[in-house]
Amino acid sequence: MSKKFYITTPIFYPSAKPHMGHAYTSIVADVFARIKMIDGYDVHFLTGTDEHGLKIQRAAEKANMNPLEFCDKISKTFKDLTKKLNLKNTDFIRTTEKRHFKSVQYLWDLLEKSGDIYLSKYSGWYSVSDEAFYNNDEITSKDGDNVSIVSGSKVEWVEEESYFFKLSKWQNKLLDHYKENPDFILPKSRKNEVISFVESGLKDLSISRKSISWGIKVPNNDKHVIYVWLDALTNYLSSLKYPDTKNKLYKDFWPADLHLIGKDILRFHAIYWPAFLLAAKIPLPKKIYGHGWILSGDEKMSKSKGNILDPLEIIDNYGLDPLRYYLIKEVSFGSDGNISKDKLENCINSDLANNFGNLCQRVVSFNEKNFSLSIPKKIKFQNDDLKILNKFSENLDKIRTEIDKQNLNFYIQFIVNSLFDANKYFNDQEPWSKKDDEVRLNTIVYTSLEIIRKVSIMLYPIIPESSIKALKIFDIKQNELDFSSLKDHTYLKEGKKINKIDILFKKILKK
Ligand code: MSP
Repeated sequence: MSKKFYITTPIFYPSAKPHMGHAYTSIVADVFARIKMIDGYDVHFLTGTDEHGLKIQRAAEKANMNPLEFCDKISKTFKDLTKKLNLKNTDFIRTTEKRHFKSVQYLWDLLEKSGDIYLSKYSGWYSVSDEAFYNNDEITSKDGDNVSIVSGSKVEWVEEESYFFKLSKWQNKLLDHYKENPDFILPKSRKNEVISFVESGLKDLSISRKSISWGIKVPNNDKHVIYVWLDALTNYLSSLKYPDTKNKLYKDFWPADLHLIGKDILRFHAIYWPAFLLAAKIPLPKKIYGHGWILSGDEKMSKSKGNILDPLEIIDNYGLDPLRYYLIKEVSFGSDGNISKDKLENCINSDLANNFGNLCQRVVSFNEKNFSLSIPKKIKFQNDDLKILNKFSENLDKIRTEIDKQNLNFYIQFIVNSLFDANKYFNDQEPWSKKDDEVRLNTIVYTSLEIIRKVSIMLYPIIPESSIKALKIFDIKQNELDFSSLKDHTYLKEGKKINKIDILFKKILKK
């Protein structure tokens, strides 16, 4: 396989069990990964947990556990979630693993050798919740506490010896990179925020802490642990066995194609990470996409606000595929979104049960009555048939280009329109009234089956389990899925047997 694709989610803090925001990033990454997989790419899809730093140290203390035992426990809930969400991740990294220590310390050495690290003293604000340093002008006071203006989280004053990274030295190089690679940061609105922040002047970054113990030690000075973000960001390399840059994983997959993250951590990914890499002379990732938040009411979910939506609860009540479908269709990708049970139920009843599930049942049972469950023969396409079939072949390249721009909204809208067109086609063509025109009857049923095949393939990345169930009609298995076959109108072999399938989605009875 020659085409490669490397996609990452942020690695999650195992400070509390996963919530819907974590599930959202993971599901979206999975959708992109699966599209590439069925389009012939060899995909490396990385997720994992970010286990060092004060935030985790304190959470462990609160739970009366030692930090590693605490991380083992909570990291497992994130790993279990990858199964619950049916993710196709090819690696799950924990920053407490040996392979990761090796990469981080190697990268530190490189930065030191290149003259980008110096020892000095930090005095300023620190937010444990964000694991971030803030300038005076980024702080305000709220209910007697000092908080970060951007994230709203509490900050505390820190004064201690610290190693610094010469971030200021990379300011112009970063700006050049943004200019020369206009799609490096997406969406555009967020790119502009990053550019103005960098233009306003970068200060050197404190990259070690002396007062905490839970982390990776600074090589040659074990009184310091490495700043958790320098540690965490390196996970994208450790998964590829960095610093062994000759190994196949690294050679195949670095630089990463897409770091998918929430908009809250854009600064770390779009400024610090590329600056570290520039200093270490490591190629930069191709793209960083900062998606919006899943809000609970009007607010971002957080443990401290007590407004957490539990993905497991929704999956238990409604099923996984409906949740995946909802998040892709109802949350406009790039913007913030909400979970409303009412809208979720509408998605199930109208889009999934009616427009998709019922279409499959109708066409297959019509086929059973008239063709005894076999693909009709003697096919002669007319304009009406070609018009609907051609939409897929003519748009295939466009679909690929839009996906490469992370335009998930285009992708899902294409599916929604196709399902609408397919149902309309079957109704308008009235195959039941064509019994004395054999060629026409056969062609309408053939065309309807072809459309079901094509839509099911397009739906696979979003609702994998249900799509595979639908494709059982044609005996198409997961490993046989091929995006390119959307171009082919005559994929289904005349005379071949088809199968009846179980109901795909049960309607929700609304009160
Ligand atoms: N550990 C860091 C990331 C290190 S990456 C090298 C971190 N972890 S986190 O657990 O706090 O959040 C990680 C990501 O979870 C966010 O960037 C975002 O992708 C996702 N979400 C967390 N809350 C979210 C919402 N409410 N909505 C959507 N996604 C959000 O930051």
